Amino acid sequence: MIERLKKWVLAKPQRGNLSLQPDAMPRHVAIIMDGNGRWAKSRGLPRIAGHHSGMKAVKRITMAADRLGIKYLTLYAFSTENWKRPKEEVDFLMRLPQEFLAIELEDLIRNNVQVRMMGDREELPDFTLDAVEEAIVRTSSNTGLVLNFALNYGGRKELMDAVRKLGTDIQAGRIDADGIEERHLERYLLTGGMPDPDLLIRTSGELRISNFMLWQLAYSELWFTDVYWPEFQDEHFCEAIREYQRRARRYGGL
Ligand code: FPP
Repeated sequence: MIERLKKWVLAKPQRGNLSLQPDAMPRHVAIIMDGNGRWAKSRGLPRIAGHHSGMKAVKRITMAADRLGIKYLTLYAFSTENWKRPKEEVDFLMRLPQEFLAIELEDLIRNNVQVRMMGDREELPDFTLDAVEEAIVRTSSNTGLVLNFALNYGGRKELMDAVRKLGTDIQAGRIDADGIEERHLERYLLTGGMPDPDLLIRTSGELRISNFMLWQLAYSELWFTDVYWPEFQDEHFCEAIREYQRRARRYGGL
């Protein structure tokens, strides 16, 4: 792993020298990929051109995460609030997973990447869900990077659904209300089995969480950049990880 990482870093000087510590990589990185629209506007292009360019950044950063030895990469691709956007833009965003996977699935398989999805499946169009489900099935036995798409995902909705299920368990006498523990709620979250993100990255200068992984981000390190998502390069990613490695995580202790 370390040799592969060294080769990858040295292949492009902007990725920095070898100041990244291979044994202190974040296990799980979550990204709010923001700024596609503004990137497009700054170039006189329609917003959807920004999303299309954002799709290329998804591939770039997926491969970087793989080379860096990160185990889980969660990408906020569509929120439960994004349905409020104009129909043309929503339609385009719903086509992107299909287009991305048509181009990239074979390469993801070659690289041992496992695709997952978290979010409400019911409201997704068939063509979106079919493409994602196919990728999930075809990569399910892969053991490398887990690429987790948050698609039609909302943190409050996730928590409300989990609370409802917990309520059913209590009513049915499976759990005693006084004995509820974090793990009882966690087993109903959509990240089931994944560790919480160590690092959250948000691009485009916005300093918000925007209903993303509200439970799981409790102790994550947050890193923000003004760079728009379509322009987010390997070197920005390495910079975020370098900063993460400089921070001392205390989890509320001293
Ligand atoms: C936020 O930028 C971005 C989104 C709502 C969509 C993110 C989607 C992608 C990056 C492509 C996903 C690709 C795959 C393969 C699923 P914005 O539109 O809010 O930008 P703005 O704030 O500048 O308007």
